[in-house]
Amino acid sequence: MSGAHDLVIRGARVVTGDTVAEMDIGVRAGRIATLGHDLSGAQVVAAGGLIALPGGIDSHVHISQPSGPGIEMADDFASASAAAICGGTTTIMPFCLPEGDTPLRAAMDAYLARADGVCHADYGVHLIVHRTDAQTLGQDLPALLEDGHTSFKVFMTYAGLALSDRQILDVMAVARRHGAMVMVHAENEDAIEFLRDEAERTGRTAPLHHATTRPVAVEREAVHRATTLAEIAGVPLTIVHVSNGAALDEIRRARARGTRVFAETCPQYLTLTADDLDRSGFEGAKYVCSPPPRDAAEQAACWAGIERGEFELFSSDHCPFRFADAAGKDAPGARASFRNIPNGIPGIETRLPILFSEGVVGGRISLERFAALTAGNHARLYGLTSKGVIAVGADADIVLWDPGARRTIRQADLHHGADYTPWEGFEITGWPVATFLRGVAVMRDGALTGAAPSGRLLHRARPRTVP
Ligand code: URP
Ligand code: ZN
Ligand code: ZN
Ligand code: ZN
Repeated sequence: MSGAHDLVIRGARVVTGDTVAEMDIGVRAGRIATLGHDLSGAQVVAAGGLIALPGGIDSHVHISQPSGPGIEMADDFASASAAAICGGTTTIMPFCLPEGDTPLRAAMDAYLARADGVCHADYGVHLIVHRTDAQTLGQDLPALLEDGHTSFKVFMTYAGLALSDRQILDVMAVARRHGAMVMVHAENEDAIEFLRDEAERTGRTAPLHHATTRPVAVEREAVHRATTLAEIAGVPLTIVHVSNGAALDEIRRARARGTRVFAETCPQYLTLTADDLDRSGFEGAKYVCSPPPRDAAEQAACWAGIERGEFELFSSDHCPFRFADAAGKDAPGARASFRNIPNGIPGIETRLPILFSEGVVGGRISLERFAALTAGNHARLYGLTSKGVIAVGADADIVLWDPGARRTIRQADLHHGADYTPWEGFEITGWPVATFLRGVAVMRDGALTGAAPSGRLLHRARPRTVP
């Protein structure tokens, strides 16, 4: 049947929900129509020797987020999504942070307008809830949740963002009523502030002290508290960017008590350490993120969590700043104290290659687990019903991998707006060679194909927190 499909991807090893097998993928009208053999179509892509994986979903990225006086994020939707696509990610989920007194709805409308017509990847947007007035919790948040923005993040750290325990409970109560997912950034702000004041008083102001003033204990305590608050409020929650074994222990204990806790980790906690913050020449500023990278033992604990299936989500926490203006020569504040270095590192394009190389090629995880950690579980937990799997009926978001390709990560080859990558020189085996968004080739051989940006806002369902 010539032309039965718009597109056929022929002969890849296809990672479906539950198997890995050589087959053809037939695409019609942007969706996967057939999985089988000897399929025909108007366009045929020969993919023998390649692996077909579901397009990545990066459910934790920061794009064009207000970042304090004089600091601008290095990526807008156009550049962040171009980088995502080139790294094999087809859906991104950034955060809408309302500035000042802007009501949630107005902030969301303005934020969505930034993506309109320029985004190369499909996208959903989480809210950041950093105030708990009656208008926000009584009206704006419920209305946005009912509109399909079914998840939001609360912070236990950062001045101006951190909520008290009572506030977190009040926000969780809204999530419970509307079946939304609460994402928690778990670090104890008072403890950090205490340690930070002490560090500055004793002259420990270099980037390394971003890490020493945010020790494992501040995260462990906050994870315990967040999971306890969720238990009290009776809601599922996601602990984002888990960096160490003690935090994971708290998650395990909370699960054993019956709380539905989902856990995310990120490339930085598997591959970087606090020693990177101690690099000479102020280079350490390029590794400032929260929680900070830890040490080899905590990396091993995070890997063990990945291998045992204790993490559902592997996200980038892409939060790009330009070293030149945020921490470089022209940023005297950053040199005066680590306190003034904006928190966050870029990683949207390198997330999947790092996990593929270290995890799959490294023999730690199967291709099926890779697909779940990078796509399937994100779709399930954030209500992306047409995404995250290679299955008949799903959107034809597909990434073709060359499992044997050897690359060295270089800033010069990346597409993000940051002026550095924390993984400069990092050796990778396995690289995405083609990306399809709803059946359209959007990346080939490491470059955008030139297709007009066609990313769509995704209307999201409620999270599926019970398998
Ligand atoms: O340092 C980080 N992670 N910056 C991004 C904001 C956040 O807390 O996720
Ligand atoms: Zn075949
Ligand atoms: Zn965070
Ligand atoms: Zn983040």
